[in-house]
Amino acid sequence: MRLQDSVVLLTGATGGMGQAILAQLVATGASVTAVGRDTAALAELDKRYGASIVTIAADLGIPDDRRHLTQLMQHTTGFNLLINAAGVNDFALFEDQDDEQICDMINVNLTATLLMTKSLLPLLKKASESCVVVMGSTFGAIGYPGFASYCATKFALRGFSEALRRELADTRVGVLYLAPRATRTGMNSRAVEEMNAALGVRMDSPETVARCLITSLENDMSEVHLGYPERLFIRLNGLLPQLVSRSLRKQLSTIRQFANTPVEKP
Ligand SMILES: NC(=O)c1ccc[n+]([C@@H]2O[C@H](COP(=O)([O-])OP(=O)(O)OC[C@H]3O[C@@H](n4cnc5c(N)ncnc54)[C@H](OP(=O)(O)O)[C@@H]3O)[C@@H](O)[C@H]2O)c1
Repeated sequence: MRLQDSVVLLTGATGGMGQAILAQLVATGASVTAVGRDTAALAELDKRYGASIVTIAADLGIPDDRRHLTQLMQHTTGFNLLINAAGVNDFALFEDQDDEQICDMINVNLTATLLMTKSLLPLLKKASESCVVVMGSTFGAIGYPGFASYCATKFALRGFSEALRRELADTRVGVLYLAPRATRTGMNSRAVEEMNAALGVRMDSPETVARCLITSLENDMSEVHLGYPERLFIRLNGLLPQLVSRSLRKQLSTIRQFANTPVEKP
């Protein structure tokens, strides 16, 4: 799709990836409604981009806030690109996770993405070309210890994206499922970064993910997984999951050790 004249709703705009995506969208000439909860971060974005963007504070877990966003987009001429980039994660062994954190992950990552997409689809269908972007993860294709609830939401988003894309195949609305591998943003605690270093897991910059998103949209891609060897492991996991299980079994004690490290956010 042509991004130059796109009118975008970007959730997660205050986050690590969201800010990188926003910068690259603005550079292409797109006009963007940027959504987050952190009002100080939104004010920074306002200052940085001026009239190129509109910022909106909204909690996607709250139905009234989602309704408000939908109403706003109903009054935004030419809206044609929804980027669902908001998300939460909580690295912990499953049995140690609070029920509240599990519910929050499902609510923000999954429920809010589905409901925002559903309420905005009628508008997207009116555009001459439009797209829904769903931010997935390598953990939407590989079940990884320490991320069971997060994996549940991202596996579900991958299934949702595939089904919706097929359902919309005779419309002008595309669905792009973009699955980054580990990325250096505030989402990952120091424990996750140290675990990744110990296990040799490579981490991308948010700018790399944003560039990949822009290219994927420009080339009308439908499902994109970032990173090698992650792409290979995803294929292997589909064909011979027991091989991947064996390899992860060897990492389990390291993963447990970092999962039990007290979490401190930057
Ligand atoms: N970082 C990684 O390693 C990685 C890898 C693969 C996929 N992903 C996915 O990439 C996406 C972006 O993640 P990130 O790395 O940029 O994380 P991040 O830096 O922690 O940013 C998360 C974003 O989500 C927003 N958000 C969280 N809860 C919200 C809620 N209830 N209502 C509205 N907004 C909410 C945050 O807004 P406020 O800060 O304003 O509250 C923030 O803008 C997520 O879907 C994540 O699952 C991340």
